[in-house]
Amino acid sequence: MKKVIYCFSGTGNSLNAARIIAREMGGATIVPVKKGVESDLAMDADVVGFLCPVYEWDIPETMKDFAQTLTVNPKAYTFMVATYIAIHGRCFETMDAILREKGTHLHYGKALRCVASQCVAYEPFPAPKLMVPYSDACARRLGKQIAAQKTNKYPRMSPITRSRYDKMMVPFLNVQHEYDKGFYTSDSCVGCGLCQKICPCKNITMQEGMPQWNHSCLGCNACVVYCPRKAILFKTPEAYEKLDNAITHRLGLPENRTRYHNPHITAKDLISDKAVTVE
Ligand SMILES: Cc1cc2nc3c(=O)[nH]c(=O)nc-3n(C[C@H](O)[C@H](O)[C@H](O)COP(=O)(O)O)c2cc1C
Repeated sequence: MKKVIYCFSGTGNSLNAARIIAREMGGATIVPVKKGVESDLAMDADVVGFLCPVYEWDIPETMKDFAQTLTVNPKAYTFMVATYIAIHGRCFETMDAILREKGTHLHYGKALRCVASQCVAYEPFPAPKLMVPYSDACARRLGKQIAAQKTNKYPRMSPITRSRYDKMMVPFLNVQHEYDKGFYTSDSCVGCGLCQKICPCKNITMQEGMPQWNHSCLGCNACVVYCPRKAILFKTPEAYEKLDNAITHRLGLPENRTRYHNPHITAKDLISDKAVTVE
C-alpha cells in the first residue's frame, strides 16, 4: 500500500506528529512542503495525508498553494491533522474544498493541541515539558484511527470565530507582507546561513553575510528558534502598530525569550527537502 504524508512545519510540532502518525500507520513517506516543491506521489497513493500548523485560523498559505498543485488519486483515503493551540478556524474546510476540486474530499480531519510556538508574541505555552508528551500521546491515538481509515465529520469553524474573522483576521492578513520588516539581527549573528536554509517559504537571502527577509514570510519562526546564536530579534513592524489589535501592538522578541522548537525535531530534519520514508 502506498502512503504519503505532506508536511509543512516551522517549529517542528507538525513534523514530529507526522512521524508518530506514520509509525502508527505501519509506515509512510513524509514529503516536506515548502515553497516551490512539487510531488507526484499522491497520484497513485492509497493514503494521502496532510500535516501542518493552524496559522491565522486557516492552513498556511504555502500548504494551500502546494495542495492546489497536487493530483490526488480519487480512490485514496485522505486525512489532515492540524497542530494548533486554541482556534483551528476553517483549516479543514479549506483542505476539503481543495480536495473536492480534485474529485475527492477530506475523509478524516483532527486538530492536535501542541505547544504554542509564536515566540514573537509570548513565551511558549503550556509548559513544553508537560505538553510535548501529551501531544505525542494524542498523535499516537490519531495515528491508530488513521491506520484504521476512520472517517469523521471534521471540525468546522465555530460561529463565534466566523463572526470575528473579518474584524480580527482580515486587517492583519492585509499587512502580512510587512511582517518580516520586524526582523533584525544582533551582533551575535555570524552569517552561518542556517536561517536561509531552514525557511520553508524561501524568504531569506544572505546579503553581505547577513540574512535579509524578502516579504513573503508566514511568521513560522523556524529562522528564529533554530538560530544557533539566538541572534534573530523582532520588533513590531510599523504597519502592525496601526492595527486595532491588542496582540499585534505588543510583538517583540527579546533576547531572553524562550525560543521553543519541538525537542524531537532538529534543524537538519527541517532543512532537508527530501522525502523520508518512516517505517
Ligand atoms: C504565525 C502563526 C500563527 C498561528 N495561528 C494560530 C491560530 O490561528 N490558532 C491556533 O490555535 N494556533 C495558532 N498558532 C500556533 C501553532 O498552530 C502551533 O504552535 C503549531 O503547533 C506550530 O506548528 P509547527 O511547530 O509545526 O510549526 C500559530 C502559530 C504561528 C507561528
